[in-house]
Amino acid sequence: MRVTTVRDAEAAAVRAADVVNVMLDEALGARGVAHLALAGGSTPKRCHELLAERRADWSGVHLWESDERCVPPDDDESNWKMIEASLISRIAIAEDQLHRMPGELGPDEGADAHEAELRRVVEGDDVPVFDIVMCGLGEDGHTMSLFPGHPQVHERSRLVVGVRDSPKPPPERLSFTLPLVHAARRTILLTAGASKADALGAVLDREDERVPASLLRGGRLEVIADDAAAGSRMSDE
Ligand code: 6PG
Repeated sequence: MRVTTVRDAEAAAVRAADVVNVMLDEALGARGVAHLALAGGSTPKRCHELLAERRADWSGVHLWESDERCVPPDDDESNWKMIEASLISRIAIAEDQLHRMPGELGPDEGADAHEAELRRVVEGDDVPVFDIVMCGLGEDGHTMSLFPGHPQVHERSRLVVGVRDSPKPPPERLSFTLPLVHAARRTILLTAGASKADALGAVLDREDERVPASLLRGGRLEVIADDAAAGSRMSDE
């Protein structure tokens, strides 16, 4: 696990955008294709805007999302709507490189459909291997739509699961599972703000099933956080 702490949310967004750009170039150079799953919520918006400003050529880059709410794509609660506004609308990228989670199909049908799509499109032996999976951090220690005490945290065969009782509204969601994230070449946990300090402290302390975000440590995890979220830890930059 690599941890980078920076002075503020803007610096965290800059760092995340830089790491993503380097990883995308590595993937394209090595395999001619790059699969990037973007995080939901509000924190990633600035990172997306910086990616749009700093990356001119999106050839070969496929955009996914690591979780979605079960709402129509034009709903203000849609993560894809946030991704469209902060990134897709600002770049030139082919439609067949965009892979929105079909939240409008509902937790069961949507999860089945998206799992089939990512198995079809993303290379991998038994588990498709994403180049980068970006995740956010909730104050309760959730990540994506894997919430404390919920069974989806323990899912070890499916790659995409439905959630019906999310404690964070809206209640119905789709989410990557840990086996899919652990197979990725890099997981980036991007977080900022004092409200996330307790959750981030638990993530950095150890793997704990009561803190789903801490289980991201089972993959190749890079934590990028501002000082407010990192609490007493000193900034690296
Ligand atoms: C979602 C997200 C969720 C989010 C965290 C942090 O769909 O709500 O995927 O996991 O990343 O709750 O949200 P903020 O970035 O808005 O604090």
